[in-house]
Parts: sequence; C-alpha cells; structure tokens
Amino acid sequence: MLFDSHAHLDSHKFDGDREAVIKRIMESEVSLVLNPGADYESSINAVELSDKYDFIYAAVGVHPHEAKTLDDMMLGLIKAMARKKKVKAIGEIGLDYHYDFSPRDVQKYWFRKQLQLAKELKLPVIIHDREANQDVMDILKEENQFETGVLMHCYSGSAELARQYIKLGAYLSIAGPVTFKNARKLVEVVESVPLDRLMIETDSPYLTPHPYRGKRNESTYVKYVCEKIAEIKGISYEEVAQKTMENAKKYFNID
Ligand code: NI
Repeated sequence: MLFDSHAHLDSHKFDGDREAVIKRIMESEVSLVLNPGADYESSINAVELSDKYDFIYAAVGVHPHEAKTLDDMMLGLIKAMARKKKVKAIGEIGLDYHYDFSPRDVQKYWFRKQLQLAKELKLPVIIHDREANQDVMDILKEENQFETGVLMHCYSGSAELARQYIKLGAYLSIAGPVTFKNARKLVEVVESVPLDRLMIETDSPYLTPHPYRGKRNESTYVKYVCEKIAEIKGISYEEVAQKTMENAKKYFNID
C-alpha cells in the first residue's frame, strides 16, 4: 500500500473528471492521500474532500505564490479549519523565488505567520522551497519549527542541504523528478538520506513521473517514485512502500 503524501486533488485540472480520478485511486494500491491547500479556497476544498472520502486527509495553508492574498482575517479562518479532525498539517507554505508571484518580503511575512500558527496548534508543516534554500532554512530555524515537524515537500535541494535537514529532524518527500533522466542530484539525495526520513508524493496534477512525463499527474503514479527509490537504494519496492507509509502516518499523526 502506498501513501501519496502530497496531491492536489482539489486542483481545477481535475474539475472535469475528479470522481473518476478518485475512483482510480481507490482501486489502486494507493490507500492514503494527503491533499494540501494552495490558497484559502483550495484549503476549503481540501477539507471538503477529506470529509467526503475516508482515505483523503487535508492540510490547510497558503502557498507562497498566493501569499499576497492573505490577511489576518483569512489566517483566522484557516486556523478554524485547521482544528478539524482530518486536517493533519499546515501547508503548503514556504518561499518561491523562482516565480516571485508575491513580493519576497510578503512571502516571508506570511510564511512566518503560518509557521507560528502551526506551532500554536501543534501541527507539523509542509514546506515549499523553490530557489529560496537559505531563507527557508534560516526562517525554520529562527521559528524553532523542527520541534513540531518539518516536511520538505518535493525536495529539490542538494544532498548536503538534505543532510542538514535530516540532522535537524526533518523529513523529505520525493516526487516525480527523481524518475527523470537528468535526476543526478536527486538520486544523490535519495542515496544519502535514510529511508526512515523519506516520504513519496506525486504533487499531482504537476510533476508527472517518467514514463508519463508531460501528461497530467495522478496519485496512482506515485508507484513510479516508489520504484525509483527502491532501485536507487537497492532494496525492495515493498520495503520502500511500507516504510514511507509508516513515516507519513507517524508524521501526520494518522492511526
Ligand atoms: Ni504542491
């Protein structure tokens, strides 16, 4: 059984056939999915999906792209949602200096606010870090975030940075890019990080793994990530499946 630790089933890209996609997941070996929020609307939709389907859990939060849409009232509404039973984390939150869709100072401000909310509620966080490695690490340290749990989603940094995160107690989640031909850096990360700190994810509908690269991504494709990690580490598919399931359940506090 597989745990897709990061899938945006609420995405508009699934509006035309969401029920069919969910049905395919239910018929597959994927038995649990965590659907993070990307903005306020998407957090509401993630929680609704978690209410409707047993195997879907939610996180609520506002992605750095949308940081400029946040205000105190909205943060208060997110806090209220975060108290729901199937909401297991605050996310996805972080910094994105690749697109800079929100000004960097605005991104940082709301990143810290949401980290503080997570600590207040004793929830772990799901972190998005794109080309902002140093600022993300500095802020996570300054906010003392490692005590309540840090998950680096779709990890894309160096092996050296990965080792620093592991030392601080964080988890790394590996997505489709590990299956790409040019994945040398990510392969090195998987080699150097112990299996008990890894999770697997699709980030669907994005980042579709080989051999479906270019198509819309679905949770069922998380098996290709699992397969690749098994190959890199020279262990069985079942071991990776079982351990990443165990890690994600522990991290998100799911029995
Ligand atoms: Ni995502």
